[in-house]
Amino acid sequence: MLGGTALMGAVPGTLPSVQAASTATAAFTPDLEIELRAVHESIPLLPGAPTSVWRYRGKVLNGDAWAVTHHPDSPLGPVIRVHRGMRVRIHFINELPQPSVVHWHGLIVPEAADGHPRFAVGPGGRYVYEFEVINRAGTYWFHPHPHGMTGPQVYAGLTGLFIVSDDEEQALGLPAGERDVSLVIQDRSFTRDNQLQYIGSGPGMMGMMSSMTGFLGDRIHMNGRPDYMLAAERRPYRLRLVNGSNSRIYKLAWYDGTPLTVIGTDGGLLAAPVSRPYVTLAPSERIELWVDFSSRAAGEELNLVSLPFVASSGGGMMGRGMMGGGPAQGSAFPVLKVRMGQGAAVSEKLPGKLASIPALRPEQAHNLNNPRPIRVTASGMRWSLNGRMFEMEGVANDEVVRLGTTEVWEFINEAGMGMMGSMPHPMHVHGVQFRVIDRRAHPSAMAAWRSVSEGYVDEGWKDTALVMPGERVRVLIRFDHYPGLFLYHCHTLEHEDMGMMRNYLIKA
Ligand code: C2O
Ligand code: CU
Ligand code: CU
Repeated sequence: MLGGTALMGAVPGTLPSVQAASTATAAFTPDLEIELRAVHESIPLLPGAPTSVWRYRGKVLNGDAWAVTHHPDSPLGPVIRVHRGMRVRIHFINELPQPSVVHWHGLIVPEAADGHPRFAVGPGGRYVYEFEVINRAGTYWFHPHPHGMTGPQVYAGLTGLFIVSDDEEQALGLPAGERDVSLVIQDRSFTRDNQLQYIGSGPGMMGMMSSMTGFLGDRIHMNGRPDYMLAAERRPYRLRLVNGSNSRIYKLAWYDGTPLTVIGTDGGLLAAPVSRPYVTLAPSERIELWVDFSSRAAGEELNLVSLPFVASSGGGMMGRGMMGGGPAQGSAFPVLKVRMGQGAAVSEKLPGKLASIPALRPEQAHNLNNPRPIRVTASGMRWSLNGRMFEMEGVANDEVVRLGTTEVWEFINEAGMGMMGSMPHPMHVHGVQFRVIDRRAHPSAMAAWRSVSEGYVDEGWKDTALVMPGERVRVLIRFDHYPGLFLYHCHTLEHEDMGMMRNYLIKA
């Protein structure tokens, strides 16, 4: 695990071993073929010395050139844009000094293309991903998934977006082009010489704090930049918010109290827009907003902030002070500044119906009265699931599901670490998009729950559900695409790296 100082010291100039791994098949004819390299670069981020980062660089080999774009002067990886139904082949090349593998978060892809840690390739290694885009239109993303190193690699900069459109979405005439803005929110800390500072879980007081709370940075970067500002026209916008932070949860609100209009979540558009006073966005979750700037004055400045909330139950010690490096989970932060242009205001209507989503029918599940429990457990300074840690190939008898069935899973967050109390855990399942059936909070943890629960958006498809201290969340999952070994885990990356992750098997 990397220490508490500069994140990337010496990066070898030569790539020692070359491994080839591939899922490429001659029968697969891609509509889009991309080369994706994970590389080391130096980028000017702060005044003074440039910052050493790891990042994805993408290039279209075959297909539309517009499908891959990069943010200027940012460590953020490319934005890949595709249409539903397209067949994609991605050639990943690992130019980092440690093993890596790419996971397409939220996308439903065959086992061999899902970026399981057992497929990680070493320095100089390559991996070919092939899949058909079967997901609904929505905001998906990709990041490394090597076991024990996901946290530091994502933190170093390895994050990209995968945006899917489809015919149903395009018929809506939602704000497009310059007015369709994706925003990746991440927290970072720097050393005095402008290098990224990371504290992984491990020995020592800081390492223990990081095991408990996850790494928390002290400033917010938007799309990889410390100084990002959105210059907006006075017209409606579509904002795709992605929480790309290792551990930090945001409670996003306009500083002036204007409610938020939510049109989409992890798995795409909602059936209809919903309004929230604020939205709660845990690591890896996505929220799409429709924002009408036409009512704003020319030159007006708007601020999106993260409001304070109660992050732990019990103890109380976790609620204050510096944890894992930066201000505690639940601290207030400015997040995004938006400045209105001088042009004329133009209004547009948001359609009242956005997408057709099948009604939620928990009766379809074969275990409605006996949900599969996924309990947060803790032993010593380690978080685990149902008392088990991650095993690379290991899958227990009670972690097997049948292809073609529908199940209820219940995430139960009632364990704590002694005086530290319990922590929030964003629970993520690979290979599926699910629906949230309901949530219940334990009476002893109401303060934490009440401080974020009005900002949950559980109306649509999800691949990650935040489970607050003392909370139980029931979700409905249909396993109807690919068989194989997939993962479920906490998306607090320091918890995941520590082993708060398990395989489950979708059996054909
Ligand atoms: Cu975004 Cu298994 O993770
Ligand atoms: Cu995932
Ligand atoms: Cu966790």
